[in-house]
Parts: sequence; C-alpha cells; structure tokens
Amino acid sequence: MPKIIFQTLWSVIQNKKEINVFIKNLSKDGSFYWVFANVTSSYNNNNDIIGFYSVRRQPNLKALEIIKPLYQALKQAETIGGVYESRKVLNSILEKYQMNFEELMYYLQYDI
Ligand SMILES: Cc1cc2nc3c(=O)[nH]c(=O)nc-3n(C[C@H](O)[C@H](O)[C@H](O)COP(=O)(O)O)c2cc1C
Repeated sequence: MPKIIFQTLWSVIQNKKEINVFIKNLSKDGSFYWVFANVTSSYNNNNDIIGFYSVRRQPNLKALEIIKPLYQALKQAETIGGVYESRKVLNSILEKYQMNFEELMYYLQYDI
C-alpha cells in the first residue's frame, strides 16, 4: 500500500469527512485480500471525534485492474522521492481523470 493513501485517509477522517478507499490487506497466512473501505469518524455530543469506523465491502474487480497499476505507480514514486513524489503522481492521475480522490474511488467502485 502506498503511504500517500493512508495519509489521505487520516487527513480526510480527521477533518470529519468520510472516505472511500481501496485497501490491500495482508492476512496472517501471508496472503492478500482487497477491500473497498468506507471509513468515517464517530462523534460525541460536542462533535469531538471519539473513534473511527470502517465498513468494508467487496471491491469491484474491474476497479482493481485500475487500482493495482495506480498504486504501483504511487509506490514507485514513493521509493524514488518519498511521499512528496507520490503525492505529485496522485495529483497528476486525479487531474487526468478530472476528479478528486473521493470521486475517483467512488467512480471506480460503482461506475465502471
Ligand atoms: C477505521 C479505520 C480502518 C482502517 N482499516 C485499515 C485496513 O483495513 N488496512 C490497513 O492496512 N489500514 C487500515 N487503516 C489505516 C491504519 O490505521 C494505518 O494508517 C495503516 O495501516 C498504515 O499504517 P501507518 O499509518 O502506521 O503507516 C484503517 C484506519 C481506520 C481509521
């Protein structure tokens, strides 16, 4: 998983917004599985964040064919120039799709 994806996740949920994101998880037996996670914050009566919540759905398999090379490109950029470079690559991909991060994730899961 590219670091920039988790940085984006935490930044969005700490700003009290929800995020949808494809995540590749490592199982105890060494195998991998993909999820489409909807992550939100939970609040107390003062609207302070008191926890986080994730609903995981099965990812759209067509989306994964796009996500895999996309995340690979982000990892490659990260290896060369850290999260700074991978953020630039992510921004250029979003520009190409003319979508923000949330729109792209939603589009890939539900509209392709
Ligand atoms: C509600 C919630 C669910 C999360 N689910 C996952 C998950 O399924 N897999 C995962 O690798 N990270 C998940 N994360 C992100 C991790 O907390 C963490 O940021 C990530 O594993 C990367 O580790 P790092 O932040 O220490 O670099 C989730 C975070 C939150 C708030």
